[in-house]
Amino acid sequence: MNATADAGPVLVVGGSGGIGAAVAEALRARGRRCWTGARNLPDDPATRRVRLDARDRGSIDAALARIAAHDGPPGAAVLAHGGGHFAPVARLVPDALREDLETHVVGTLHLLGALHEALAEGGAIVVVGSIAACEPLGDCGGYGAAKAAQRMLVRVAAEEFRDRRLRVTLIHPGAVDTAIWDGRPGFDRDRMLRPQAVARVIADLLEADREAHVTELTVLPPEGRL
Ligand SMILES: NC(=O)c1ccc[n+]([C@@H]2O[C@H](COP(=O)([O-])OP(=O)(O)OC[C@H]3O[C@@H](n4cnc5c(N)ncnc54)[C@H](OP(=O)(O)O)[C@@H]3O)[C@@H](O)[C@H]2O)c1
Repeated sequence: MNATADAGPVLVVGGSGGIGAAVAEALRARGRRCWTGARNLPDDPATRRVRLDARDRGSIDAALARIAAHDGPPGAAVLAHGGGHFAPVARLVPDALREDLETHVVGTLHLLGALHEALAEGGAIVVVGSIAACEPLGDCGGYGAAKAAQRMLVRVAAEEFRDRRLRVTLIHPGAVDTAIWDGRPGFDRDRMLRPQAVARVIADLLEADREAHVTELTVLPPEGRL
């Protein structure tokens, strides 16, 4: 057990989004000092918000330095950043695929590299992957390819980051009712997971017994894969 990591602030990347905002709320309700980070947030230590872009390592390092100066070294991070492009493979535009790869793969690479340096030893990282990394879902050829690449990056990091006793966990949510579905009619959003349900799972993982390391976890709506 590492007291510094347990007591340290938590950074939620994508903290203004559907899942990220719910995670921040859940962690604050449990008494954690929680920082939200995203591209369109202001830099405001008073409200523990930082502007960062996962695709820009410099912005991540600056955000982590700002958190450390204000609240001490971060003890944990949740990566819940990015949206996606959804189209049949035959109509998927290469630039849409490149954008999803940049956000979910290169962005996650930058974040993991920065967190390996900045997190207190014994800390924890939860990465929000997707069931689309594991199953061939319609219209998810590009997004799913990016999430599958992100998955292996995170699985390798989970092994390597044991050098600093960091526990890295990847979760694969099924459909969660957030803005990511706004441009996709034909889905019953009432049957999807609530972001708050996913957030409780993530908060539990951050508090989990350090004697065990959960490496991957699938989280589906009660009706299963929709
Ligand atoms: N909703 C689902 O059904 C579902 C299911 C499985 C997995 N996921 C995954 O869950 C994560 C969050 O999705 P969500 O549904 O909560 O989406 P969302 O509501 O659209 O939120 C996305 C968040 O990511 C931020 N973001 C986007 N690009 C970023 C970048 N380059 N750097 C930093 N922040 C960035 C956004 O803020 P800015 O635009 O201001 O940067 C926003 O805060 C994503 O990784 C998604 O793939 C979602």
